[in-house]
Amino acid sequence: MTFTIAIDGPAAAGKGTISKAVAAHFGFAHLDTGLLYRAVGAKTLRGTDPIEAAKSLTAEDMVGDLRTPEVAQAASKVAVIAEVRAALVAFQRSFAARDGGAVLDGRDIGTVICPDAPVKLFVTASAEVRAERRFLELSQKGLPDTREQVLADVITRDERDRERSEAPLKPATDAVIIDTSDLSIEAAVAKAIAQIDARR
Ligand code: DC
Repeated sequence: MTFTIAIDGPAAAGKGTISKAVAAHFGFAHLDTGLLYRAVGAKTLRGTDPIEAAKSLTAEDMVGDLRTPEVAQAASKVAVIAEVRAALVAFQRSFAARDGGAVLDGRDIGTVICPDAPVKLFVTASAEVRAERRFLELSQKGLPDTREQVLADVITRDERDRERSEAPLKPATDAVIIDTSDLSIEAAVAKAIAQIDARR
């Protein structure tokens, strides 16, 4: 049985948390597609050409700390390049088609990677709420960014992700929007599960 759940949305909206919880609930595999772009971004920070980095990506590139603000910005920059995106399509589509069900989260899963997914969710929240969440996450890791820096970073990245010509961040026309600004994690996950249950 294949069943794909596409979860898109801007940075730090709660996609990752919701995707993991949904995958665990239904026993599906989960792919955080942002990590692919982060791995390409991290390689370019070490001097590799972005297109070469995307074409030669291996599991070994996914280890190490890819969740830093520098890598996030580098990921968003390489993600505007059509050839980088093209190099990552086949892997994402084959993951989506795996037996047993799959949850993919990213920016273009419902619009480009899996336009026929039976469930498409677009998880969002205000920029301030998202920046506050990311700030708490980074400060727990001991990273020195201030609230203001984190907010500015989130806004810059969202603008770049929304305004690029290749696979811009936007909800698919048939996506269900979940705004997590005023929702607890439990409530957001429950909404997502209810949407999926309604379509299974
Ligand atoms: O989800 P994330 O914050 O880890 O993603 C990092 C960057 O990667 C994001 O700013 C844009 C890019 N990205 C993308 O263009 N398409 C995806 N499907 C996932 C991420």
